[in-house]
Amino acid sequence: MRRFFATALVLAAASGIPFSFIPSATAAGKAPAAPTGVTIPKGYRNWEVVAPSQRDDKDEIRVILGNNIAMKAYRAKTLPFPDGAILAKLAWKRVKSTEFDNTFVPGEPPRIEFMVKNAKKYASTGGWGFGRFVNGKPANETEHATCFPCHQANVKNHDFVFTRYAP
Ligand code: HEC
Repeated sequence: MRRFFATALVLAAASGIPFSFIPSATAAGKAPAAPTGVTIPKGYRNWEVVAPSQRDDKDEIRVILGNNIAMKAYRAKTLPFPDGAILAKLAWKRVKSTEFDNTFVPGEPPRIEFMVKNAKKYASTGGWGFGRFVNGKPANETEHATCFPCHQANVKNHDFVFTRYAP
């Protein structure tokens, strides 16, 4: 499969066919973009923790991470976040530990989400591009249409970001 796409890329390059005509976006080794254009940022799993959170009704453990630009803004307590700031929200099913009582551990991850700051590009959604991925694949447009309204309705005064820096 990989070889097929590699060959397709070379052929496309040689023939001048735009890469967007190649059926799989993974041809170039990249995950496909969300309808907003947001992609899974490289190296996000190594970012710093802003704060954990939990959601009872979904039985989920979450951790919100920030890239260097976002963490710098958090520490300086400056708002709005500058362009280039990215926040990640990782989630896992809350599972009872089989090794120790009264302890919950992360199970399957139902989704990962990102907010990418680009004031100009995402002016209509508070300067943030929203991206949700399930099993590495972007969620659809309908789901993405829900992101900004909820963030806007609840945390307009905190640059549309819920998570505060946990000491
Ligand atoms: C109904 C409300 C609601 C909707 C819809 C929603 N969010 Fe959120 N989002 C939250 C809440 C509440 C938090 C705080 C952290 C938590 O829930 O664990 C959050 C946190 C986040 C964070 C971490 C930064 C922050 O604001 O704290 C990201 C990234 C994020 N959401 C992305 C998305 C994306 C992408 C979508 C749409 C696909 C989306 N959200 C839709 C309520 C919502």
